[in-house]
Amino acid sequence: MNTIIKNIKRLVQVEEKPAKWVQGENMSKVQFINDAYLKIKNGIIEEFGEMNDLNLTKNQESYEQIDAKNGMVFPSYCDSHTHLVFGETRENEFIDRVKGLTYQEIAKKGGGILNSCRSIQILSEDELYEKSLERINKLIRLGTGAIEIKSGYGLNIESEIKILKVIRRLKENTPITIKSTFLGAHAIPQEFKTSKEYLDLVINLMIPKIIEKDLIDFIDIFCEEGYFNLEDTKRILIIAKKLNIQSKIHLNQFNSLGGVNLATKYNALSVDHLEVMNDKDFKSLVNSETMPTLLPGCSFFLGIPYANAREFIKRGLPIAIASDYNPGSAPNGNMNFISSLSCIKMKLIPEEVINATTINTAYAMGLQNNLGSICVGKKANIFITKKIPSYNYLYYNYNENLIDKIILNGKIIK
Ligand code: NIG
Ligand code: FE
Repeated sequence: MNTIIKNIKRLVQVEEKPAKWVQGENMSKVQFINDAYLKIKNGIIEEFGEMNDLNLTKNQESYEQIDAKNGMVFPSYCDSHTHLVFGETRENEFIDRVKGLTYQEIAKKGGGILNSCRSIQILSEDELYEKSLERINKLIRLGTGAIEIKSGYGLNIESEIKILKVIRRLKENTPITIKSTFLGAHAIPQEFKTSKEYLDLVINLMIPKIIEKDLIDFIDIFCEEGYFNLEDTKRILIIAKKLNIQSKIHLNQFNSLGGVNLATKYNALSVDHLEVMNDKDFKSLVNSETMPTLLPGCSFFLGIPYANAREFIKRGLPIAIASDYNPGSAPNGNMNFISSLSCIKMKLIPEEVINATTINTAYAMGLQNNLGSICVGKKANIFITKKIPSYNYLYYNYNENLIDKIILNGKIIK
């Protein structure tokens, strides 16, 4: 199906040619066209420009016409860090935290990630698929057009494969672009004495099986006190490199263990969380290929400090912002809310948030040539807003769904 969208009040985040990412002070700049049109052919952005210059060639006369009615058009959000495939929700732990326990104390009692693992074991693959599909359909309606999903609530070979198969079915059966990450090293199951002992199993048994089944795009590990140490993280980075799979690493959520430096040395695609950063961590990121990814939804929900987003930008670095959608530390995948939160709590201006949630998160999924901006040749994953006074209003009005229409692969979804 081919389409022309007319009467766009502002076409936001346009690019002449795909940028790798946006960094430093350029993060405060977003290109746009006012009073614009957009042509989509075979699911791909074909052409865009000002309404005054709109011409239709003979074969474009048959294109379906959509009237944006003076709404704005954005590239869909790219959410580069989620744990969307999970079993039950964890509201009891939430109440424990309200009463004063910390995230780490709850984990020590056998709650946290291990709690989610128990609920995955009970569910069949079909049940897990249905729950996950429902969640993904909700996120599509909130403007997300590409998403990374991690395993890591299995922690044994059967359950990890169950999760990865669910992600594969989501890839096959939904219009959203999905990337799959193996996070076997998410926590240490209680039957193992040391992280090394469990990681041996991850590396020697799980990874070969998962590779054989061709189930993943990326590899991850949770580098943190009480979880996996620097040595463990190095082993994961080495095996990923050997297999030619890019890595995305959870680190610096509660402590800086030196993982940022290590990850950049191994050209990790992204390092995620970064609530706790020292000077050396920041310096390691300069001139690296690694995208620093911040997860404000987790800080909001756990009541831990927010990442110092302004410092990254001040040092000339790029930042990406993702939802971290998961049942324990961030039970919300709504990127509109995450965007508002980034303004309110991390003191980012809307332009910085737009870059951080589109072009830069596309990079953090290896999708910068296909998604993340309005650019000829990129996939037509976009949303049209309701009539809004300015794009600042999207971040100001944090409680209302201001999205009117969703288009994925050139097809109208809503
Ligand atoms: O990114 N930090 C580790 N993993 C998740 C939380 C997982 C959970 O609590 O279930 C995160 O916040
Ligand atoms: Fe996470």
